[in-house]
Formats: sequence, C-alpha cells, structure tokens
Amino acid sequence: MKSMKRTLIKNIEGLWRVEIGNRVLKGEDMSKDYAIKNAWLLVQGDEILEYGSMESSSVPASADQEIVLSKGQHVLPAWCDSHTHIVFHESREKEYLDRLKGLTYEQIAENGGGILNSARRLREASEEELYDQAEKRLGEVRSMGTGAIEIKSGYGLTTESELKMLKVIRRLKENYKMPIRATFLGAHAFPEKYKLNKEGYVDLIINDMLPRVVGEGLADYIDVFCDKGFFSVDQSRRILEAALTLGLKSKIHANELANSGGVQLGVEMGSISVDHLECIGEDEIKVLLNSNTLPTALPGTSFFLGIPYAPGRRMIDAGLPLVLATDYNPGSTPSGNMPLLMSIACLSMKLLPLEAMAAATINGAMAMELGDRMGSIDQGKLASFLITQPISSLDYFTYAYGSQLIDKVMIGGEWV
Ligand code: NIG
Ligand code: FE
Repeated sequence: MKSMKRTLIKNIEGLWRVEIGNRVLKGEDMSKDYAIKNAWLLVQGDEILEYGSMESSSVPASADQEIVLSKGQHVLPAWCDSHTHIVFHESREKEYLDRLKGLTYEQIAENGGGILNSARRLREASEEELYDQAEKRLGEVRSMGTGAIEIKSGYGLTTESELKMLKVIRRLKENYKMPIRATFLGAHAFPEKYKLNKEGYVDLIINDMLPRVVGEGLADYIDVFCDKGFFSVDQSRRILEAALTLGLKSKIHANELANSGGVQLGVEMGSISVDHLECIGEDEIKVLLNSNTLPTALPGTSFFLGIPYAPGRRMIDAGLPLVLATDYNPGSTPSGNMPLLMSIACLSMKLLPLEAMAAATINGAMAMELGDRMGSIDQGKLASFLITQPISSLDYFTYAYGSQLIDKVMIGGEWV
C-alpha cells in the first residue's frame, strides 16, 4: 500500500511557484512571483497535499513529521533537467586540456576526440559498469535538487551499444522514484566506419536501430544532432519522420555550431523542444513564436566551450518561453549543477533570477511533458522540492554563484 505519511513544513519564508498547473511560463510571466510569503506546505505520501499562509487559520494541527524552518529559508520546486547525457564511460579531461592549450572543440573532434572518443570507450564498457557510473551522477544531481531528468543515448552509435545505453536508462527508471525520460540519440555523430557513407548510417538508424528501440519500448523521444558537420536537415528529417511513424516525438540538438536550419525543422516536425540555439537570429525567434516547440538554452556548454550564449534575454523579451537544462556530458559540459547553471544564465544571458527559476522548473517539466506532475508547487503534483539555507532574499540564491545554498531536498516524498 502507498505510504500515507504526512510531512508538514512550517515558517517557510517564501514558497515559490505555487499553482502554476500544467503550462509553460512565457515572456513576462516568467518573472512573476507565484509565491506565498510566510507559508506552510503539507506533503502526503509522495504528493503535495496542501499549502497556505501561516497567517491563516488553515495551518494543519499535526503531521507525522513536522519541520519548522528558520528565518530566510525558502522552498522551491525541484529542478527539471530536460537535456542530459549522463550515461557515458569515463570523463574526457584530456580534451579539456587540449582546449586550454588552444585547440577548438571541432578540431578535437576531427582528430578522433569528441563524441567518437566517448563511443569507443562506451563500446568496451559493460551495462553494469555504465549503470554504476550513471547512478553516481544521478545521485550527485539529486543532491543538488534535480527531481526529474531526461537522459539521452548517443555514445553507442552501433545498434547494440545504443540499446545498451537505453537499457541503463531503463534500469535507472525502475530503481528511482523520480520521473526519468529516455531519448534515443543514435544520430549524435557519424561513426568512423560510415565516414564516407553517411546515408548508410542514416539507413542503419532508420531500418535497424529505430525498430528495435521502439519495439523494446526503450525510448520516450528521439533526438538528432542537426548541425554543421553533423546531420544535415534532410538527413535529420528522414530520421524524425521515420520515428514519428513509429510514434516517437522528437527533441533536436539545433543551431549550436551554425545557423543550420535545425530550429525550422523542429517546428516543422512538431518537436517538443529545440536545444542549444547558440546560433539563432530573428528568423528563428519568429518561427518559434508560431509554434509549441520549446526553445531550450544550455548555457553550461557556452561557459565550458567558450562559445556564444543563446540569446535567452531576447527570446523572453519576444514573448517566448525559455527552458534551461544542463547538457551534462563528458565533452562539452561536465556538470549537472543546476543552481550554478542558473547563476551562469543570469550573468551571461541577462536573465532575472525568477526567469532562470521558471526555465529550470516548470518549463523544464514541460520540455519532458511532465507538467502535470512536476515543476511547481501544486496540489497533487509530486512532492519534489528543495529547502534553501537561510538567505537574505531569493535573489541571493543565484547571486552567490557556486555557494552550496541547499539545506534539504525532497524528491517524490522522500528526503534525499
Ligand atoms: O550536447 N552537441 C552535441 N552533443 C553534446 C556534446 C557531446 C560530447 O562532446 O560528448 C552536446 O553538447
Ligand atoms: Fe546535448
């Protein structure tokens, strides 16, 4: 039977992002409070049961566990990280050193580093080894407040290794009480073997990988790295169309290295999200405004690779919603730290702290189609939130970049 244990949290300085429901926040709405000051929150089992103001007469009289917060402690919804690659075998700090010495990310990839380097390593690893490493990374991001996550394959690049990665994600789903989305990214790079036969690899994805992935129910979405030097718009379209006929919706790695048409393709294909967007202009913003496809910025990648940032400020000013995700992976963003990412987003894209929070919570949930369960403090949503240390204001949370300002994390009704 489901545990019906009740936990009551009292004297919350600010309970943030209350009653948003199952919708994205766009434009001006991203910086609205949706908060209750001096609040209480009641959890029952794994769900949010009720909340209110400490000044009203509705404060519950008792619960199984009662926590009284100190002055300055806020409660925020858990982060929803809608773009990661946390299943990989071994880190790649050698390439990081090469970049510090002057090589570019693209030069390193051309010399056999990059995604193909991770693919070679991953092929040698057992499912067990991969699971253990991914579980460690998942534990790390949970402790930093991530309560829902999307994880991609894409370091396999053979049918067998792609399936191996997706099975690791399936085991994480089975073993953790948090929403996890699996995305099939066979189209992450062209394997060496197909360097001169790119269409052959596209055929392999469509005719061999996709039917197996879908047949075994291993993926919630498909993704393609549609960019200069990787998959062309036509190759990407072929793959996404094949996936759609099998019922798989898409997310796209778009416009990271060039303005290469990925955003337009995403809108045409009805993709859930287009991610990266470092190289977009007004045309792409216009196209996105006429769609339900969610623009997702991954500023950790810009920070780590030293490339331009997505124009997050411009997108919000134009009235778009914005999603923030980490892109946690061994090559371009070896970090799943959402609080730090929000600080980077504020400083580098000129987001306001509340905008960064909306992008990292409800909008991230929507980019995983989890808006009914995650992303805000709503009755019936999962009890997944974090309690801050005592801080002077909510803005301090992104201002004091790199400080550890989380006191406790609850995910799905359980303390992490
Ligand atoms: O999202 N852009 C494509 N793929 C990853 C990087 C992969 C890697 O270098 O291992 C990304 O940044
Ligand atoms: Fe990525």
